[in-house]
Amino acid sequence: MQANSRQVSSNQPHLHHKLAAVVRRHLSTPYRRPPAEHSMRAYEAIRDKLQLQPLIVDSFCGTGHSSARLAQQYPDHLVLGIDKSAQRLARHPDSSSGNHLLLQADCEDIWQLLVRDKLLPQRHYLLYPNPWPKAKHLQRRVHGHGSFPLLLQLGGAITLRSNWQLYVEEFGLAMHLAGCRGSISMVGADPALTLFEQKYRDSGHNLWQFCGVAASSTAP
Ligand SMILES: C[S@@+](CC[C@H](N)C(=O)[O-])C[C@H]1O[C@@H](n2cnc3c(N)ncnc32)[C@H](O)[C@@H]1O
Repeated sequence: MQANSRQVSSNQPHLHHKLAAVVRRHLSTPYRRPPAEHSMRAYEAIRDKLQLQPLIVDSFCGTGHSSARLAQQYPDHLVLGIDKSAQRLARHPDSSSGNHLLLQADCEDIWQLLVRDKLLPQRHYLLYPNPWPKAKHLQRRVHGHGSFPLLLQLGGAITLRSNWQLYVEEFGLAMHLAGCRGSISMVGADPALTLFEQKYRDSGHNLWQFCGVAASSTAP
């Protein structure tokens, strides 16, 4: 990847003025979109394996470099990387680790199925999700999306990272509104977890993260 990535540019200088209203609406409305067929098939093929070890979910995993790294870091866990792009997943590095799986599917679909089956992760990573920086796209961001309550129902220790500080601050506020506090900090100088992290770092961007524990007051 080239190291001349542009900073996120947005027509939204502050927290979105509708953020609280949108989050509260989603928290009070069950997510109703049924999982897509292709996501169901991908999930069914690996479901049994998910029951064998404590689970870590790596949503929006892209090439899955982070899934492989997390698998090395947590050898007693199974890391499930999810991304909808077959092209990105095809660029996964060869890895001898037997404790990670990659799934080509929509995250929201898999979150729904994991909640349904009570296969809840101990940790959940959301590393550099698409920022959707235009104000009108608030509801495409993870915290503005109708599936946000599923993220809470999945629970676990959440790490969300972005090179757009506002995105992380909005996510933190959405978590706060849901009763789950956490902390926001700059990502440290450890080796990059993902290719995007490496690219942004090489381009001189500041990198931000929210860390907290997800929990839902709404029963799955
Ligand atoms: C900016 S990339 C980050 C990839 C990786 N986490 C990294 O840091 O290198 C965002 C990824 O999210 C994936 N994506 C976007 N929306 C998705 C969805 N609803 N379900 C699954 N993957 C999605 C894209 O295919 C893309 O690979």
